[in-house]
Amino acid sequence: MSETLTPPQAGTVATPETAPGVKRLFIKTYGCQMNVYDSERMADVLRPLGYAPTDTAEGADFVILNTCHIREKAAEKVYSELGKLREMKESRSGAMTIAVAGCVAQAEGEEIMRRQPAVDLVVGPQAYHQLPELLTRTARARGERIGADFAADEKFDSLPEARGINGPTAFLTVQEGCDKFCSFCVVPYTRGAEWSRPAEAVLAEAGGLAAQGVRELTLLGQNVNAYDGAGPDGSVWTLARLARALAEIEGIDRIRYTTSHPNDMADDLIAAHAELPHLMPYLHLPVQSGSDRILRLMNRKHGRQKYIDLIGRIREARPDMALSGDFIVGFPGETDRDFEDTLDLVRQVNYASAFSFMYSPRPGTPAAGIGTQVPADVSLTRLHALQVLLLEQQVAFNKAQVGKTLDVLFEKKGRHGRQAIGRSPYLQSVHAEDADHLIGQIVPVEIVSGQQNSLTGRLLQEKAA
Ligand code: SAH
Ligand code: SF4
Ligand code: F3S
Repeated sequence: MSETLTPPQAGTVATPETAPGVKRLFIKTYGCQMNVYDSERMADVLRPLGYAPTDTAEGADFVILNTCHIREKAAEKVYSELGKLREMKESRSGAMTIAVAGCVAQAEGEEIMRRQPAVDLVVGPQAYHQLPELLTRTARARGERIGADFAADEKFDSLPEARGINGPTAFLTVQEGCDKFCSFCVVPYTRGAEWSRPAEAVLAEAGGLAAQGVRELTLLGQNVNAYDGAGPDGSVWTLARLARALAEIEGIDRIRYTTSHPNDMADDLIAAHAELPHLMPYLHLPVQSGSDRILRLMNRKHGRQKYIDLIGRIREARPDMALSGDFIVGFPGETDRDFEDTLDLVRQVNYASAFSFMYSPRPGTPAAGIGTQVPADVSLTRLHALQVLLLEQQVAFNKAQVGKTLDVLFEKKGRHGRQAIGRSPYLQSVHAEDADHLIGQIVPVEIVSGQQNSLTGRLLQEKAA
């Protein structure tokens, strides 16, 4: 089953996508923002080899599935997608290279190769810088599987400087991995130990992005607020220190970061939210459960009151902070009483947006071995009740913006007319008419209505901020 990369077929019209020498690359991304960043970087790595991104697998020379292992459903999706790709590949007599990257690749690389023979190579999250070399080898023999060593520094050192960016916002990975070992979670196994990029490397990448017109950076890490990279002076920099240095880069006006762990929410980071206008007033700070008993079983290493107190301190520093979180319902042993504690915490905190999931037992994690799994119908009823409450809070938060003037960074054209879509400081989508000439600018917008998932605004003035 060896595969070679197909040369462009004789007789095809030379559009930019099929021009001689151009090979079409389709990357499908599952999971978190770190995977989105990784997918962009894979395209950067492959660009010098003549690969240009395309937005469908149909007709692509190289297809990469960048996968997520966090819940069973996410992982299973990969196998059904691979089934479809296999048919596509067969209909083209094998003229398509298929790679599986990301966290499923790391966790189940051998199983993927066994279950789906159409897959040519499997590459873990710390090894995708080796894609060009792997492709050359795959052209000769199928079956490369690379990953498992978690040498994140080697990956970042070998990625090309140039990033294919379009638009005024960009993700920037500053930290990888997790040492927290929450009892339900696969991330410490798929992404390895916590590791932070040196500050200078981050600043250089950010400088390059600013030069390409990026105005908003979202710093990424599985535990981004645990950032402890080496500073240029040899001292250890915290995330707050890094944010202050990034704010000095000409052109960078907005800084966000995700995902944070409550135990790493250091005082200097909270203080930076009060002092640094670049830090946007939106914080994703997952708590998972409002029950102390469940938090202990989850190995979260913090209790409910500590989280609530922390939120209080954050709001003292930045009273308008919009909070977001993640919740798991139906963790093994969760009782109605535990679940009530979660609802009660949600009422106390009042979230601007949040994600909630039904617990999914993951192979190799301690929680999967706990005997008292919650029946699926009970979990589903709880999930529904939690989502109703979270949605009420989200809608209330969006409606509370009506009548206010918010600075909006316009990112792209809307669906019709001269509409443009941007983001408020609180990460809400904002639609405004006659604004498509303002893409890339931060503009004051009067909010005229608030819906479930977005705001509608009216331009106040033509001049950019
Ligand atoms: N590092 C981040 C994100 C982890 S994954 C953090 O600690 O918050 C994103 C979310 O997926 C988690 O916050 C959690 O709510 C959810 N999650 C993780 N493992 C899960 C599992 N086994 N079942 C259901 N949801 C899970
Ligand atoms: Fe998973 Fe917990 Fe680490 Fe987040 S902190 S990635 S939930 S182990
Ligand atoms: Fe999924 Fe891996 Fe991210 S498991 S959530 S893609 S770190």
